[in-house]
Amino acid sequence: MEQRHDVVLKGATLVNHDGIWDGDIGITGSKISGLGDISVASAGEIIDIAGLYVLPGIIDSQVHFREPGGEHKEDLESGSRAAVLGGVTAVFEMPNTNPTTTSADALADKVSRAEDRMFCDFAFYVGATRENIDELPELERLRGAAGVKVFAGSSTGDLLVDDEESLSRILTKISRRAAFHSEDETRLRERMDVRREGDPSSHSEWRDPTAAMQSTERLVRLAHGAGKRIHVLHISTAEEMAFLAKHKDVASVEVTPQHLTLSTPEAYEVLGTKAQMNPPIRDVQNRQSLWQGLSTGVVDVLGSDHAPHTLEEKAEPYPHSPSGMPGVQTLVPVMLDHVNRGKLSLQRFVDLTSHGPHRIFGIAGKGRIAVGFDADFTIVDLNAERDISDDWIASRSGWTPFDGRRVKGWPVGTIIRGHRVMWEGEIIAPARGKPVRFLEAPAQLRAT
Ligand code: DOR
Repeated sequence: MEQRHDVVLKGATLVNHDGIWDGDIGITGSKISGLGDISVASAGEIIDIAGLYVLPGIIDSQVHFREPGGEHKEDLESGSRAAVLGGVTAVFEMPNTNPTTTSADALADKVSRAEDRMFCDFAFYVGATRENIDELPELERLRGAAGVKVFAGSSTGDLLVDDEESLSRILTKISRRAAFHSEDETRLRERMDVRREGDPSSHSEWRDPTAAMQSTERLVRLAHGAGKRIHVLHISTAEEMAFLAKHKDVASVEVTPQHLTLSTPEAYEVLGTKAQMNPPIRDVQNRQSLWQGLSTGVVDVLGSDHAPHTLEEKAEPYPHSPSGMPGVQTLVPVMLDHVNRGKLSLQRFVDLTSHGPHRIFGIAGKGRIAVGFDADFTIVDLNAERDISDDWIASRSGWTPFDGRRVKGWPVGTIIRGHRVMWEGEIIAPARGKPVRFLEAPAQLRAT
């Protein structure tokens, strides 16, 4: 007898690990139950998506959703609303909240705030401090943990571990891949007076390419010493990209849409402090090297580094203005526009946002379109032309650095574990977010 499916996505063009091909997708419960040519007679419900591309759910492995402690900028609910409106099905959220996510209690608190309140699935990084190093092996395995995050250079908040001995101890203790903010703290401190009051363009001079490179070299050396894997977040310089290409045995590499799209000096001329982030936006030559790293396979994942601050906070004169910009909602349209301009293929985009996170973080059952995997899909119209505008932004911060940008390529549907959560710009399902599970934390695989 023919297999039945609760839902069949009919007439899709699938973008997956084995190419781009036309076919149908069967969904039963929360899982993918069939792929290929599926007869309509076997379907409970049929969703006709002819003319649209179906991608495995987009996973944004770097967002800051600010809860607890920074809810005036964002919270888990508002951040996840922005995510699903932008076609993102799962996020990994950062520990520089208040309190910081540096203990089992703080992690459990975030998970309980998030479950069935976030619209997308989620995992939380555990922040490393000098005090919690001995507990990290346990913390990195807890339910809802994406792994360990280390601020090796200081950014928003006061999480920082910059001494070599502690960094080395962290790497020796943990077993999962840890994620690093990589800028050399000593150099940042020494060069504080490079910042010019009221001139945000001096941010890129202060946090210069040398600061990023010195830190990244050190992290790779320590990773080799400990025999551990590192994930270097938001790479921004040509030197780091060339260096990391030689160290793919230990290092995975993230770039952000904003480092790929914006460049100095224009970004500061047009956006002022809105363009201020860490590591900073760089010049055209550095941006070009990121594209080269992307096209030659050095880059593993794209993360948005969604880091919302209010317009009032951003209106403070530099350097009193905070660093960071929202991005979770604009990742997909900004990158699809680059696809349409021939900067990367649709398959490489999926490699960076689904297969890449699946592979480097060892995600259980997400990141591919395959029978038995979670029925998570990002459905996109590659021909839709729209204007990105502040009005569309669901983040509590209410703005985007891409306001006014016309793009070709738009997310039209977000399906998470079989539920249509966003369709044609509307959220049409209740919040049912659940923790992402990881193969390297086997306890997370137990039935709950
Ligand atoms: O610009 C940034 N803002 N970079 C970071 O690493 C942190 C982030 C934030 O939390 O605001």
